[in-house]
Amino acid sequence: MRKVLKNCLVVSEDLSIEKRDLYVEGERLVDFVEGDIEDMNSMIVIPGLINTHTHAAMTLFRGVAEDVALDEWLSEYIFPRELKLTEEDVYIGSLLGFMEMVKNGITTFVDMYFFPHAVAQAAKDIGIRGIITRGLANVDGHGSEKLKECEDFIHEYASDPLIKGGVGPHALYTCSNDYFKESVEVAHSNNSLLTFHLLESPSERNNFKKRSNIEPVDFLNSIGAFDEKTIVAHGTHLNNEELKLLSQHKTTISYNPTSNAKLGNGIAPIPQALSEGVNITLGTDSAASNNSLNLFSEMKFGSLIQRACKEDPTIMKVEELFKMATYNARRPLPFDIGKIESGMLADLVVINPNKLSTLPKKHFYSHLVYSFDTTAIEKVMIGGKWIYDGDFCTVDICEVMERFEKTVDSIDSRI
Ligand code: NI
Repeated sequence: MRKVLKNCLVVSEDLSIEKRDLYVEGERLVDFVEGDIEDMNSMIVIPGLINTHTHAAMTLFRGVAEDVALDEWLSEYIFPRELKLTEEDVYIGSLLGFMEMVKNGITTFVDMYFFPHAVAQAAKDIGIRGIITRGLANVDGHGSEKLKECEDFIHEYASDPLIKGGVGPHALYTCSNDYFKESVEVAHSNNSLLTFHLLESPSERNNFKKRSNIEPVDFLNSIGAFDEKTIVAHGTHLNNEELKLLSQHKTTISYNPTSNAKLGNGIAPIPQALSEGVNITLGTDSAASNNSLNLFSEMKFGSLIQRACKEDPTIMKVEELFKMATYNARRPLPFDIGKIESGMLADLVVINPNKLSTLPKKHFYSHLVYSFDTTAIEKVMIGGKWIYDGDFCTVDICEVMERFEKTVDSIDSRI
């Protein structure tokens, strides 16, 4: 399949805009090819956004519990429901989550949940790219089965163009230290992405120290958990020394500002992390703790909360935020994504700049971060295929929404 997208206003990672044609052959951008011509009429084209921390199926729990602390939220509302979930529930919850992401310009995700095959089926049905990590915990005594399922999934999807498996030990408080170490070894032996929640809430550090008599980051460092293929989700309470260590190991942090703020977990030390040279990406976390799956709002809120907190309007620059949502995710992920260049995967978001919130066009530069409304997204391409063009090209939205609502009622009746 060859496509020529004529008259695009292409946005680079430094947010400069250049008028040019784009050429797509198969799943990639190429220097030149003859093919079906589509005139983009000076629409803005940006690389697809990359959501580096999510639990897509948790759209099923959006709004289920508000105004409670993380411990209570997990133990009273989320874990009891998750125990009742079937593979089919996870499929429909993930599918709705991925649809929301695509509609908001997200073309790649890093997901942590269970029933990885159901998550993969949902991703493939809509056509979104992603890393699926089977969430690992051994507090219920089924740790080894989960780890085997995780490793089998990695092997099964090793040559899939859209989906790869990764390893997702949930957190230090849901995994024993030995189990966490085993999970890290599985990630290393399979050369896979490793991702886990770390120091998300204020109490985690002391709870771990009481249990293990060692600092959480020192323990993780001792088992080799930090390297270039590691994404630490949250890191809200990391100190400067720990940020230095992450920087030395080229480890990535997934900054989830909305989820952290909503759950009252604090504000991640992102300006400090940037000055230490840590690679920062953005994540929505789940629709139960966000409650949207929208990285444009994460860019804006992620900047504003740091500026308000530090009383400094010069930090969290527009280009830095845009790179967090795109380019920076390339380092830990096994895909050629995050920028528009020949040889990269054709994951593109086409934006109509003629919208109330994106005028004046001549200052479009900062609109992507500070005034963007995702209804300006006209089309989304993933791997050279149009997935969204005002309607979903691969799934029937009405059918999915109806099935989703029935599933939520069914889960509630099982509690
Ligand atoms: Ni999470």
